[in-house]
Amino acid sequence: MNRRTFLKAGASAAIGALAGSGPAFAADAEIGLSPGEPGAVISPQIYGHFIEHLGGVIYDGVWVGQNSSVPNVDGIRKRFVDDMKRIGAPNLRWPGGCFADGYHWRDGIGKSSGRPRTYNFWQGRMPAGIDATETNQFGIHEFVHLCRLVGAQPYIAANVGSGTPREFHDWVSYCNAPVGTVSLADERAANGDKQPFGVRYWGVGNESWGCGGAMRPEEYAAQYRRFVTQFPAYTEPFLVATGPRGHSADGDIAWTTGFFEAMRGGIPPNGFSIHFYTDLRPTPLKAGDFKAPEWYEVLLRGVRLDKVIEDHWKEIGKFDAAHRTKLVVDEWGVWYASGSEIAPAYILSETITLRDAVHTGMTFDIFNRHAGKIAMANVAQSINCIHSLFLAQGAKFVRTPVYHVFDMYRSHMAARQVPVSNPFPELSVPALAGQARLPGLSASASIRNRRLAVTLTNPSLDAALSVRIRLAGGAHATEARGLVLTHQDMRATNTFANPDEVKPAAHPVRVVADALELSLPKQAIILVECDIT
Ligand code: AHR
Repeated sequence: MNRRTFLKAGASAAIGALAGSGPAFAADAEIGLSPGEPGAVISPQIYGHFIEHLGGVIYDGVWVGQNSSVPNVDGIRKRFVDDMKRIGAPNLRWPGGCFADGYHWRDGIGKSSGRPRTYNFWQGRMPAGIDATETNQFGIHEFVHLCRLVGAQPYIAANVGSGTPREFHDWVSYCNAPVGTVSLADERAANGDKQPFGVRYWGVGNESWGCGGAMRPEEYAAQYRRFVTQFPAYTEPFLVATGPRGHSADGDIAWTTGFFEAMRGGIPPNGFSIHFYTDLRPTPLKAGDFKAPEWYEVLLRGVRLDKVIEDHWKEIGKFDAAHRTKLVVDEWGVWYASGSEIAPAYILSETITLRDAVHTGMTFDIFNRHAGKIAMANVAQSINCIHSLFLAQGAKFVRTPVYHVFDMYRSHMAARQVPVSNPFPELSVPALAGQARLPGLSASASIRNRRLAVTLTNPSLDAALSVRIRLAGGAHATEARGLVLTHQDMRATNTFANPDEVKPAAHPVRVVADALELSLPKQAIILVECDIT
């Protein structure tokens, strides 16, 4: 059977699994896995989220209010809660982003009618509208309620840029102290939440080299020490220090060197943040309308993340050989220039296409392959902003193609990473500056309770691949199933009017003794799952 006839046989299969022996299969790509020798656990927190008061993210995206005609749970958009729960969203970062360093948590507690309207960092860049000011209707109680509804860990970015250590510590006590200990805990109970919030993840500022205070690394290190030295640890904290702007041309390695140099002799943070945007704002690239070179440009810029992770990890290792500090990629995504917003006030909302879904698959494979280094990652942002899983406006709501990639990759959460040998050659692809080289096949794998998950992405716009996944160490696969996300149009997207244009479909996988065989369509992401005996 040649590749073409295999594809035909696959397409006619009613379900996503083909069993037993069959005619010889000519593989374009043969990748190897040793399920019996897994590596580090893939932190479930890698599949994390982020929401900020920016454009239509909080107001309208997440918070519609109790009296809204939009279905809601205590004011929170129900579709958002349901879908975040469905994909097992492990955490949610809030209130920013840049907004965090101007946010004062007391403004968001108490009777909602008495809460002040305050300045919104993003206001200067948006027309007056739903988000002209921060109404503070969505404060810490509403945020933790959302996290509890979803089953996500709260990850709070504290205000270093315009706040004080005292304001930070009071917020921690308000959240985490048991009732009857300190007055702040009783105040929390009086405001409706007797049970401590148990917030473990705290970001100490955000982008402190920019909107969070425009500091130099040694200045920030001094602030970091002040802010954490008397941290009230009711709950074992995971403290995240501001890290580099990873998408800078030089990867911003000097920030990492400067911070850890200035932290010598101090207690290293649990996490060190990296922001990595696939930043197309300085280019003419459009979110929804593009040709082949622009498809590849996004993917080429996206896979630079691999080197950025390696470089910063290595740099940190010079100061902390034991690597007590893990990486937290707490903002990542494809950021296009403005032009595809769902409405003017919804600044930074973007059309999300199959290209962004393929970028997501390749990004997650990078995270998975670096499992031992990365404690957490947070997409920027979950709804109505940049690399969103959802777009919402009033009663309208849609899952973008990126949502489906999160859904497909959830099998990797908390599983043990299985190293992949992937000798498939790089592709020579057209990009903005001419021909460039892109990984021709992206892959990662994991195992949990003898259940193997393999994710593969074919970035090519031209060629499908026949792939053999060879299992080493005498492992045999049974019960394989496949799921594919693709579309014949690389620009395909989901809209309010046509919400299911891009969605996963069952995909045939052949089990042959110690191997799995499948056809991987062009411009596609695939999940293969099977049991291992
Ligand atoms: O995600 C949008 C913004 O991008 C965040 O507020 C900021 O941290 C980053 O620059």
